[in-house]
Amino acid sequence: MEASTFTRPEKGAEIDLRVDALAYGGNGIARMEGYVVFVSGAIPGDLVRAVVTKRKRAYAEARTVEVLEPSPERIAPLADHPGAPWQVLPYERQLAVKHEQVRDALTRIGRLEGFQLDGIVPAVEQWRYRNKLEYSFGTAADGTLICGFHAPGSWHDIVPIGDCRLASERSNVAREQVLAWCHEQGLAAFDRRTHTGLLRNLVVREGRRTGQLQVRLVTGPGDIDGPSLATAVDCDGLSWTTTDALAETTQGGETIKLAGNRTLEEELCGLSFSIAPNAFFQTNTEMAEQLYAVVGELADLQGWERVYDLYCGIGTVGLSLAARAGEVWGLEIGEQAVANAISNAKRNGIDNARFFAGDVRLALRELVEEAGRPDVCVIDPPRAGLSQKVVRRVIEAAPRRIVYISCNPTTLAPNAAQLVEAGYVLRRVVPVDMFPQTPHIECVALLERG
Ligand SMILES: C[S@@+](CC[C@H](N)C(=O)[O-])C[C@H]1O[C@@H](n2cnc3c(N)ncnc32)[C@H](O)[C@@H]1O
Repeated sequence: MEASTFTRPEKGAEIDLRVDALAYGGNGIARMEGYVVFVSGAIPGDLVRAVVTKRKRAYAEARTVEVLEPSPERIAPLADHPGAPWQVLPYERQLAVKHEQVRDALTRIGRLEGFQLDGIVPAVEQWRYRNKLEYSFGTAADGTLICGFHAPGSWHDIVPIGDCRLASERSNVAREQVLAWCHEQGLAAFDRRTHTGLLRNLVVREGRRTGQLQVRLVTGPGDIDGPSLATAVDCDGLSWTTTDALAETTQGGETIKLAGNRTLEEELCGLSFSIAPNAFFQTNTEMAEQLYAVVGELADLQGWERVYDLYCGIGTVGLSLAARAGEVWGLEIGEQAVANAISNAKRNGIDNARFFAGDVRLALRELVEEAGRPDVCVIDPPRAGLSQKVVRRVIEAAPRRIVYISCNPTTLAPNAAQLVEAGYVLRRVVPVDMFPQTPHIECVALLERG
């Protein structure tokens, strides 16, 4: 056998790559004599010049600096937007890739077979579908304060945004008003390298059905003129969070109300919800309704069942099922979200749903003791999915049916495989496109005790 003369590219090197597939998370895959390079900003068929950003023994990562020969599939981007990397793929192709990635994760990572994989439910709106945007403040090369998004792959460089085509026009106006006020006040952006400067993030959230707009400014420790900000921004609720966290997060810190309402009102599935500034709410309202319709179909409730809503947030899934269930028990780690879930049950006159604050890993056993075993368990964890221990706790709780809402098929796959190993059967999986123009994939899986 001949010795290979192939040497792995150095970090910082510029190399030309032909991309032949898309990986989970959306990067292109190119191969150099079998050595895999994940390339951001590239789609299958592209020949790109890319700079190597990471080099490992088994693979490298690179960022496209120039498309030398575009893929025949490429279409012109609609918006200069780092949050919409798949806009260069026709929407039908985005759907096909997501559908295939769900199948691939379940069969290749989970080694699962024999399940029905439905066609992907397409999004109602391909643009301006997000009800929540989190912007970052930064400083341009000429020293000007800007507000936009992190440059792809960068934790400190911010690129400004004009019209954010994932947000509504009204939400864009609110961002421009806050930025103009910050300029007037002579405020400086937080520097993510030196941890100096005040302005960190801006969160704009919208009740798509109620028309309400909630604006939250996130700063480091320091002072701002709250009353003058309140007169500068046209919204229904304005709050200010101060945090000294080193990480780039809009969670945590101290939040105070500057004007209007503290919570945002929204309507979903014919119910009315109140959402605390820090609480999770599905970011695509129209598609959340479709997602919950799929959950309802797969849960197939007859009216007597005890339903667990694990990772319940403000209670949206459980409350949308309550009329068809005997009782609903929700578990969620965020205390404000649980307080919202309890008041959301009340405001909708739902009296068969109870919600508790706790970590599913630690509190699920207690819930089983308190509530009794569930007939149906709806599980909607964050992207990381469930740890093996949490899956064991679910198996112990022994629901007849599990409806698993996943925003990451690569973590659904091992969780589902562990459940199948324990005697559940994966019956059906329904992908739902909640995030057009991005590689994010949502799906709902039905598992039943065999
Ligand atoms: C993907 S969201 C789903 C929320 C809700 N089901 C919905 O559709 O709006 C996941 C939720 O899990 C919560 N969470 C994260 N880790 C948790 C844990 N260890 N135990 C309980 N809840 C957790 C988060 O606060 C968040 O509200």
